[in-house]
Amino acid sequence: MPNKAVKTAVFPVAGRGTRFLPVTKASPKEMLPIVDKPLIQYAVDEALSAGADTLVFITGSSKRAIEDHFDSNPELESVLQAQGKEELLATLRGILPSWASCVYIRQSAPLGLGHAVLCARPVVGDAPFMVHLADDLIDAPVPCLKQMAQVFAEYGCSVLGVQTVPKQDTDKYGIVSLERKIAPRIGKIAHIVEKPKPDKAASNLAVVGRYLLTADIFDDLANIGEGAGGEVQLTDGIARLMQRQAVYAFEFEGKRYDCGSKLGYLQATVEYGLKHKSLGTDFARYLKELAVKLDA
Ligand code: UTP
Repeated sequence: MPNKAVKTAVFPVAGRGTRFLPVTKASPKEMLPIVDKPLIQYAVDEALSAGADTLVFITGSSKRAIEDHFDSNPELESVLQAQGKEELLATLRGILPSWASCVYIRQSAPLGLGHAVLCARPVVGDAPFMVHLADDLIDAPVPCLKQMAQVFAEYGCSVLGVQTVPKQDTDKYGIVSLERKIAPRIGKIAHIVEKPKPDKAASNLAVVGRYLLTADIFDDLANIGEGAGGEVQLTDGIARLMQRQAVYAFEFEGKRYDCGSKLGYLQATVEYGLKHKSLGTDFARYLKELAVKLDA
């Protein structure tokens, strides 16, 4: 049986993040913290837990902070050491395990998610790979990409992470309809359409920011032009791939926060704050007091 381990994860982080302006004017959306960790670190942790050891960041302008975050900082480490702050030192050193490598590829301009993924081709080569959009934060008992890696290991075809969304929101997502069920949470996709209007959408099953793709997608991405919004859409590449091979939709277990939107970001901050090891209890007390005041 061929080795179905997926070792490369691609993180497209070259978008403009306009919904978060002005904070994203000079710093990346992916560096927004959820309590004390930036979104991109949650993303990397998830990919590592799914078996990735090569992390490919597709970057653009104003994204230097991401490289700095995953690089070592000997000066800061020696200051913490001198101050005896061992716990913080361990936290810093634990950001990235030594066996993982980072590759940074610059997307010349934000021409779309499909174009961003195509930029990863020289590093990914012929092997299957993961794509993770860091602004979709998923809290799950088993990390979402790990669940998807298990599906890939079993079926060997591309897998998209999907979730049902309110019907009125279909125009914010790629929407899939299923040809048939394969297993309780898995279906073979019949059609995929980028951001259909609610009255045109075939379903309310939306692709969220997790993909496990075969490298065949690169030929499709290289051959599609601009799609919805004048951008090269990953969804259109997947639609072409489906003409040649099966693509499965997988309803992962877990709760997703749309941290590309301000409301989703605030919801994630509150819920992760409540679960936080050292802050959770105090934060819960504060929220209860606040709720009493708001009720009064
Ligand atoms: P979004 O649709 O969330 O766009 O991109 P955005 O630019 O990040 O944010 P808004 O809508 O302007 O607020 C989805 C993902 O695709 C990446 C983004 O960084 C994000 O992770 N992306 C998008 C690229 O890397 N390159 C692109 O050309 C477009």
